[in-house]
Amino acid sequence: MQDRILVTGGAGFIGSNFILQRMQDSSFSITNLDKLTYAGNLRNLESVAGDRRYTFVQGDIGDRKLVSQLLAEQNPTALVHFAAESHVDRSIRGPEDFIRTNVNGTFALLEEARAYWGGLSEEDRSRFRFVHVSTDEVYGSLGPDDRPFSETTPYAPNSPYAASKASSDHLVRAYHHTFGLPTLTTNCSNNYGRFQFPEKLIPLIILNARDGKPLPVYGDGKNVRDWLYVEDHCEAIATVLRKGRPGDTYNVGGWNEKPNIEIVETICDLVDEMAPGNGTSRKELITYVKDRPGHDRRYAMDASKIERELGWRPKETLESGLRKTVRWYLENHDWVAAVTSGSYRQWIATHYSV
Ligand code: NAD
Ligand code: DAU
Repeated sequence: MQDRILVTGGAGFIGSNFILQRMQDSSFSITNLDKLTYAGNLRNLESVAGDRRYTFVQGDIGDRKLVSQLLAEQNPTALVHFAAESHVDRSIRGPEDFIRTNVNGTFALLEEARAYWGGLSEEDRSRFRFVHVSTDEVYGSLGPDDRPFSETTPYAPNSPYAASKASSDHLVRAYHHTFGLPTLTTNCSNNYGRFQFPEKLIPLIILNARDGKPLPVYGDGKNVRDWLYVEDHCEAIATVLRKGRPGDTYNVGGWNEKPNIEIVETICDLVDEMAPGNGTSRKELITYVKDRPGHDRRYAMDASKIERELGWRPKETLESGLRKTVRWYLENHDWVAAVTSGSYRQWIATHYSV
């Protein structure tokens, strides 16, 4: 049976990896609705652009008329919702787009999905799924000895980004509880891998190390994140779509808690090895800079529910995943050159100048 998925935000980092992975299975057809903000990049999807099973539509998830029309035309069996403003530092400088897309946009999608789902046959209604892709940041910050976040950890978002994602999670939950819409939510830890926009720590450090530029580390560099290779995250989403229980939430993580400074030092070693410079270690470029306001100290995910109930497990180790990722950024000059021009340069200049 054909799976017809409406993906939102599929031109971004995780969405494009998800589409490429799912398109390898011939039973999937995918429509990708993406506004193409600074973070959306159709280059990521060049290899499937000509495939009859793939359709791209440029548009805003908040455009209810467009969403309603797409649902009617494409008749999807599932909606997988990635579209969001996703960078914490940008949410601190300007939260409005985060409210518009992450909160109001998700609300618009839920309303249109509810109307569409309500008009399906009983069989199609029971098959339909709305998968909402969310983050561990909704749970706030952990102390050094706290247990990792579980699905029952109370929400305590600290940044405007996290608060906007938490709002969207609550709306998704309510649409299941009140209207019966078969929603599922995944809350995932920090992803890394190919196609990540280099405003985020790992690609930023790889490219600055390559170019001999300062490597900005916020605060004391001891904030801890739990890293997951993006393809493992995409497999987790596909697993939840296939086997998850409607109304449930699933925490996804890599069991890879590391202080930022360790990640930065590992990248320095990998770049030194793969792109030897003038003999000095890239570690000499490490520069401690002003901390992010309200910077969450530690995230850690307890992913035992999805492992136990759905049988998902990450395949990549942090070592092998970082090696692949550094190699990808060093080899894909055209992709890097295309995304690091224009407005990207302006963001870097503004953000790191204070
Ligand atoms: P991204 O910023 O790389 O991509 C976001 C995509 O959404 C872009 O293609 C952009 O054009 C599109 N978009 C933005 N606003 C839109 C709108 N109004 N209408 C339609 N499309 C719009 O983000 P990402 O890192 O790929 O994250 C995808 C999702 O996963 C987000 O919901 C994010 O909160 C969540 N998430 C990310 C991570 C991570 O480490 N990157 C971890 C956990 C969860
Ligand atoms: O935890 C999941 C979240 O991970 C996702 O929901 C977000 O969409 C995603 O952007 C990411 O958020 P973070 O804020 O954790 O990621 P970022 O790459 O911006 O930062 C990772 C850590 O590195 C964080 O502690 C801040 C620090 N950092 C970041 C940058 C950009 C630096 O020290 N220097 C930097 O220049």
